[in-house]
Amino acid sequence: MEETREHWGNKLGFILAAAGSAVGLGNIWKFPYITGENGGAAFIIIYLLCILLIGLPVLIAEILLGRYAQKGPISTFRNYAKRHKKIWMAAGALFFLTGFIILGYYNVIAGWSMGYVFESLSGHIAGFSSSGDAALHFQKLVSNPLWILFWHFVFVATGGLVVYFGVKNGIERIARLLMPIFFLILIFLVIWGISLDSNGKGLAFLFKPDWSTISFKTVLIALGHAFFTLSVGMGVLLTYGSYLDKNDNILFCGSMIVVLDTLIALMAGLAIFTSVFGMGFNPAEGPGLVFNVLPAVFSMMPGGSLFSLLFFTLLSIAALTSTISILEMLVSTLLDETRFSRHHIVIVVSALIFILGIPAALSFGSWSNIRLFDRTMFDIMDYLSANILLPLGGLLIAVFVAWVMKKSTVLNELYRGISENRGLCRTGNVWFFLLKFVAPVLIVLVFLSITGII
Ligand code: PFF
Repeated sequence: MEETREHWGNKLGFILAAAGSAVGLGNIWKFPYITGENGGAAFIIIYLLCILLIGLPVLIAEILLGRYAQKGPISTFRNYAKRHKKIWMAAGALFFLTGFIILGYYNVIAGWSMGYVFESLSGHIAGFSSSGDAALHFQKLVSNPLWILFWHFVFVATGGLVVYFGVKNGIERIARLLMPIFFLILIFLVIWGISLDSNGKGLAFLFKPDWSTISFKTVLIALGHAFFTLSVGMGVLLTYGSYLDKNDNILFCGSMIVVLDTLIALMAGLAIFTSVFGMGFNPAEGPGLVFNVLPAVFSMMPGGSLFSLLFFTLLSIAALTSTISILEMLVSTLLDETRFSRHHIVIVVSALIFILGIPAALSFGSWSNIRLFDRTMFDIMDYLSANILLPLGGLLIAVFVAWVMKKSTVLNELYRGISENRGLCRTGNVWFFLLKFVAPVLIVLVFLSITGII
């Protein structure tokens, strides 16, 4: 079994694939709208603290655990939990479930963005005279079950196709090709946005904090988003780490992924808010922000069709490299646990994801009245996975690596392939401390605060 496990072509391939997983709808679609809804700069500061104190340490732990175990989540816990094996395997199963839930609704938004690439090509975007028109067009599309299910299907099938070809020939190849294109398009849009924001309102919104907007709920959203945006807390990076060479430097790779992800979120925020304020639109538009507002912004720009084509292509690429990472985690878990081939597993899992996504897809149209706790199916899947299951998964990973595994084993794995020196040992110890005490305590505190206990 061990010999048949695939590996990345090299370290850069891993970094691009893992950064491709991290950088996704979370950065371009979600980060701007939750920043818009939660008051801007103050939210961003809390989010950055969550990334630094919790997200980064847990991300390194997750990659490390994967490389150490060379397995998917369930087998990893089965092989290395000395006690309470069943409970730990249930944690692995929880990761698996979280993956299904996230993919179910994530593919829907990814499908919208792919649909908008074609809308841009056919000249439907960029001809609006107001944001109301653009919003109406968006509403018309997302409440059309045929449109939404068609693009949901196309997106699931595209991701399935990449994962079908495996780690090196599928995922790594697509990440190497798409990530640089993605970065170039984004730089272009940032420069354009800044040139629109003549009175600096967009920049002020992003960089001048107003603390009066912050509550515990905001902190929970920032924490959940830190996990979501880094792809941490459900075994995806564990799986990617399991394809990593024993001599690659995990501290470096992990930090690169976090830096890239954060940089890209901030760049997306810059591109979007400078355009939104520059054109006088409302930043607190919610999930429709990039679909409602940006087409109206594009309509007012010279060459707007080209910009909208670029933007939605960017969004689709980002979403694709993320969906394939989640799909790969699901597939790799089943490869470990069953005797089926990768190809069969990909087909069955993709079909299940398509079916699971249907209620989320219809939440914006005919099923918008089907609600639980006043939330649509889409909202429930999003809230449950991002705000509860991912932080819980992150907590489990932190506890497993810092409390269940031996510190010497963990630090040995961390230092593999790097020549040890005093600075490195200090960094390793700080990381272990953050993982063992700071991250778990903060996660638990945030959880307690929403249950109303504190
Ligand atoms: N990090 C991705 C994003 O920001 O869009 C979403 C995601 C991918 C979440 C993979 C979780 C995951 F395991």
